[in-house]
Amino acid sequence: MNTNLADKTVVVSGAAGGVGRSIVTKMLAEGAKVCATDISDNVAELEKQSGAVVAIVGDVTKSTDVEAIFAKAENAFGPVDVLVSNAGFIISKPAHETSEDEWDQVMNANAKSLFLMAKRALPAMMKRGGGAIVATGSISSVVGLPDQAAYCAAKGALLQLVRQMAVDYAAYNIRVNAVGAGSIDTPFLRRYLDALADPVAGEAAVKAAHPLGRWAQPDEIADAIVYLASSSASFVTGHILMADGGYSAR
Ligand SMILES: NC(=O)c1ccc[n+]([C@@H]2O[C@H](COP(=O)([O-])OP(=O)(O)OC[C@H]3O[C@@H](n4cnc5c(N)ncnc54)[C@H](O)[C@@H]3O)[C@@H](O)[C@H]2O)c1
Repeated sequence: MNTNLADKTVVVSGAAGGVGRSIVTKMLAEGAKVCATDISDNVAELEKQSGAVVAIVGDVTKSTDVEAIFAKAENAFGPVDVLVSNAGFIISKPAHETSEDEWDQVMNANAKSLFLMAKRALPAMMKRGGGAIVATGSISSVVGLPDQAAYCAAKGALLQLVRQMAVDYAAYNIRVNAVGAGSIDTPFLRRYLDALADPVAGEAAVKAAHPLGRWAQPDEIADAIVYLASSSASFVTGHILMADGGYSAR
């Protein structure tokens, strides 16, 4: 695969999480310079991997933090070529049990975060005549899943913003895509299972729901993200690449 990511400046949100760490490692392997950002202080550990990583703690639901993240990234590595909007958060409840605050938290973490980061990244990409934005979507972007009222709404909004921005910014050679992830073995999924009445039965049910009969490892999702960010996907925009073990094919 010809990625042409060497020396590119890449911002990755949710970088301290399961998928985020894998994205950072794979981007480094392609020779990219990575600004790894997360609301968790744990993101600092990633700087040990390479001098080509700068770790920044910030909340991507806040425009002031997003401004600080991009300012630090640009200061460290120059203009941002690739944005990976990967931070996400789930509260699993049906609509009638979801509080207004829970709705806002989930919408902000999964959808507003993409809006704020893209809004900050796009003007410089437009000026320089190119760029790539990849958002971590979900099977919840395309199907209704039980007890995921706010999360399905948020990941659906993420997908529509991806499609909309793909149209607006194609003229500037900026591609905007999403990965539609199935269940992934990360702390996110473990928290979800632990909250169920029967986590063991939950794990079996989650795996059985994917035709491949298992859940994904973070690297399998990161590979799809790196592909969409790379020049191998140079004619791909407005697309959701379902890396879901066949879940949405049923
Ligand atoms: N794990 C799954 O089964 C699964 C399935 C489909 C999609 N996803 C999506 O994959 C992405 C990565 O999740 P993961 O599985 O690695 O989970 P994770 O919980 O391991 O990582 C998510 C990271 O996002 C960070 N984050 C959350 N809110 C933030 C905010 N406001 N500002 C900055 N950082 C914030 C968290 O601190 C965490 O480090 C998310 O968008 C998630 O919705 C996960």
